[in-house]
Amino acid sequence: MKGKKILIGITGSIAAYKIPLLVRILIKSGAEVKIVMTPSAATFVSPLVLSTLSKNEVVIEMANQHTWANHVMLGRWADVMLIAPASSNTIAKMAHGLCDNILLAVYLSATCAVFIAPAMDEDMWHHASLQNNLNLLNTYGNQIIAAQHGELASGLTGMGRMAEPEEIAERLKQFLLDQTQDVNTSAQEKKEPRLAHKKALVTAGPTYEYIDPVRFIGNISSGKMGIAIAEALADEGCEVTLVLGPSSLSTQHAHIKVIPVMSAQQMYEACVNCFHQMDIAVMAAAVADYTPATVSEIKTKKSSELLTLQFIKTKDILKHLGENKASHQTLIGFALESDNEKNYALKKLKEKNADAIVLNSLKDTGAGFMHDTNKITIFDKSGNETEYALKSKTAVAKDIVQKIIDLQS
Ligand code: CTP
Repeated sequence: MKGKKILIGITGSIAAYKIPLLVRILIKSGAEVKIVMTPSAATFVSPLVLSTLSKNEVVIEMANQHTWANHVMLGRWADVMLIAPASSNTIAKMAHGLCDNILLAVYLSATCAVFIAPAMDEDMWHHASLQNNLNLLNTYGNQIIAAQHGELASGLTGMGRMAEPEEIAERLKQFLLDQTQDVNTSAQEKKEPRLAHKKALVTAGPTYEYIDPVRFIGNISSGKMGIAIAEALADEGCEVTLVLGPSSLSTQHAHIKVIPVMSAQQMYEACVNCFHQMDIAVMAAAVADYTPATVSEIKTKKSSELLTLQFIKTKDILKHLGENKASHQTLIGFALESDNEKNYALKKLKEKNADAIVLNSLKDTGAGFMHDTNKITIFDKSGNETEYALKSKTAVAKDIVQKIIDLQS
């Protein structure tokens, strides 16, 4: 409860003797405590004890000699107000808006949540007027910390005993904790996504180049990195089109439209068709560089010892997009290399007219295909080289999206 501001209103009830203990608990847990009392409460518990424990002056009168107590500011100061013990008399006045003492004036001015911990003898507790007043206060948004069964000041045992200080402190603590979490959550929710109203194209996964109806040339890309990038972009508010090669993975993200493809040619066509609408394009797919020159319509039969196939180059999607890129479009390519990494990455950056190339080196353990992790270095067109640590592919995707945001600004 560090730094939380708690305002306690004490009314005339024998249970007021428990309030110094409550104040001590709250102060010890880091809260700031201020106290207002009705004049009759001061006959049950010493204002001197309360001001010493709370380290604040206790306010009892509307005006003290020539000084007016600013009840409005006290009511606005608090994160939460607690009326404890709340006598039947004060509860009735609160329920009906009466304002003949400072405690009631503060309650009526309070803009914070108000908790009420009633305390009275059993018969008063059960009286219909008291119960109706509590219900009324409840409908106004006040929270009632129910009285308990136990020994009462009258010597009787029954309902009406104020909840113990520890329980009251716990209720306040829980409320303040929930309130902090709500504020944090709504602050996050309110944060405008950084790529709102942007459209992005992402390629992911392998491609399969068919030789005959049952055989193909493919690669071991899972699509995990590209899917993580698509999701990270969508999380930042982008409307994403994911052109996904044959992969066992996919995504259910509400802001990602998946276009499933098989071959490099299909991936090329899907990308070229929509690239002009895009603000961002990330080519994370492991596209086949070659495809069989001919595809047999029937299953090829086993015959000679040596089988020779002829391949032709596929269209380079990244290169094509780079050649047709408008100035507002940000284009990111990948380079998976096993040697001479930096040179090849820079060569791809230039030749494919990308804005940045994300390099994976096969020399790095935990990078590239077949891992949940990746280790990347990003080279951008301004000559920056940024090396990142080995991270989960989700975290790597966020780094790449951050780089895209930097490149766009
Ligand atoms: N790429 C593409 N279309 C292709 C081949 C590659 O869009 N037909 C893209 C990849 O998605 C990646 C980048 O180009 O973003 C580099 O791919 P890579 O296979 O590393 O390089 P290549 O250009 O194919 O060159 P090489 O295989 O000789 O390294």
